[in-house]
Amino acid sequence: MSDPVSPRFPRLLVTGGAGFIGSCFVRDRLARRDGSTIVVLDKMTYAGNRANLAAVESDPEQAARLRFVQGDIADAGTVAPLLAEVDAVVNFAAESHVDRSILDPEAFLRTDVMGVHVLLEACRAERARTEKGERARAPRLLQVSTDEVYGSIETGENREDDRLEPRSPYSAAKAAGELLVNSYFVTYGLDAVVTRGSNTYGPFHHPEKLIPLFITNAIDDLELPLYGDGLQRRDWLYVSDHAGAIGHVLDHGHGGEVYNVPAANERTNRQVVAELLNRLDKPWSLVRRVADRPGHDRRYAMDGSKLAALGWTNKVPFEQGLATTVEWYQKNQDWWRSIKSGDWDAYYNRQYGARLAGSQEAGR
Ligand code: NAD
Ligand code: DAU
Repeated sequence: MSDPVSPRFPRLLVTGGAGFIGSCFVRDRLARRDGSTIVVLDKMTYAGNRANLAAVESDPEQAARLRFVQGDIADAGTVAPLLAEVDAVVNFAAESHVDRSILDPEAFLRTDVMGVHVLLEACRAERARTEKGERARAPRLLQVSTDEVYGSIETGENREDDRLEPRSPYSAAKAAGELLVNSYFVTYGLDAVVTRGSNTYGPFHHPEKLIPLFITNAIDDLELPLYGDGLQRRDWLYVSDHAGAIGHVLDHGHGGEVYNVPAANERTNRQVVAELLNRLDKPWSLVRRVADRPGHDRRYAMDGSKLAALGWTNKVPFEQGLATTVEWYQKNQDWWRSIKSGDWDAYYNRQYGARLAGSQEAGR
């Protein structure tokens, strides 16, 4: 809200803008009412949801500055004309769920690697047009990446120049995507920046992920499938802080740089589940210990001093963010019940059927 009235990038392409973090970015950016415009390009996979943009689409002033295009970032014919119209592209579009990448890796390579390549080629073509004097300034690309590219870290915190050691098909594809971005900065002089965010939570989070899955299952008194010993550690970042940090790096980040976006809210999965159950007033007996995720990363943790030096500070403490999130899922049951229908049962049975059949009490 506090950024200048005259934005540095007044015309944005936001890919994956109907997903969890992308839609928060779109809602928060348009709510500034600074005259800037956004084109959302989204393939509308199972994770894309137009309802995530309902707040802006029902506000005439914001709706007038939003254009929605259904399409694939891996489709050059769709991407190229959109890039020609904007000052920057923020790439949220991805296959984002680690468990699905273990079941079916191919879609992850198509979107998270080839899709990034197509976006980069379109940016390169726009840069060439700039050199011919056909446009004033080449577009900036912000690639939304993840702490998972570092792999698991037992102690300490990863810094931006640490070695990348991704261990799942998802994180390997994300690492490939951001390495391509860096290669286009070095080789073709593209204006590009990368953010590596930590585990994000909040309203509109697809119920396949830990926090919304466990909240929605607990509301219905269903079992909560906790992988392995549940002592894996994640650093939980509230969604508007993640989206805000991405906007800050877009506006202020230095080309060719990578910025960690940590939360400083590290918790074991057991701690998170206990806090959720407490808020929902549900018993621990719902929690089942199930077979672990193959190759499960034990811990992620990042140093955030580079982003802090750029002037960004997170605003939402974990307790407050979790309270808001639990309340949102209690009040917005239509939103998640419609997602947990149709193909949901087939996914759930594939992912959890055998696990839950062979599960044990989780023990506190
Ligand atoms: P999400 O799965 O909720 O949303 C992804 C969106 O991308 C969906 O709207 C989907 O329809 C769209 N999409 C998928 N493939 C596409 C394609 N080929 N072309 C166009 N659109 C496509 O994901 P999210 O949790 O909002 O994550 C957004 C980004 O942030 C991803 O790049 C993810 O890797 C990264 N990230 C997520 C987290 C997290 O905890 N959720 C943390 C760090 C980084
Ligand atoms: O760290 C950033 C990443 O966070 C993002 O890049 C990914 O897009 C995002 O999905 C998320 O990945 P995780 O694998 O960490 O999130 P997920 O919610 O799937 O799992 C969080 C932890 O909870 C992890 O240790 C696995 C565990 N878990 C998850 C599910 C879905 C369970 O124990 N049971 C479950 O049913």
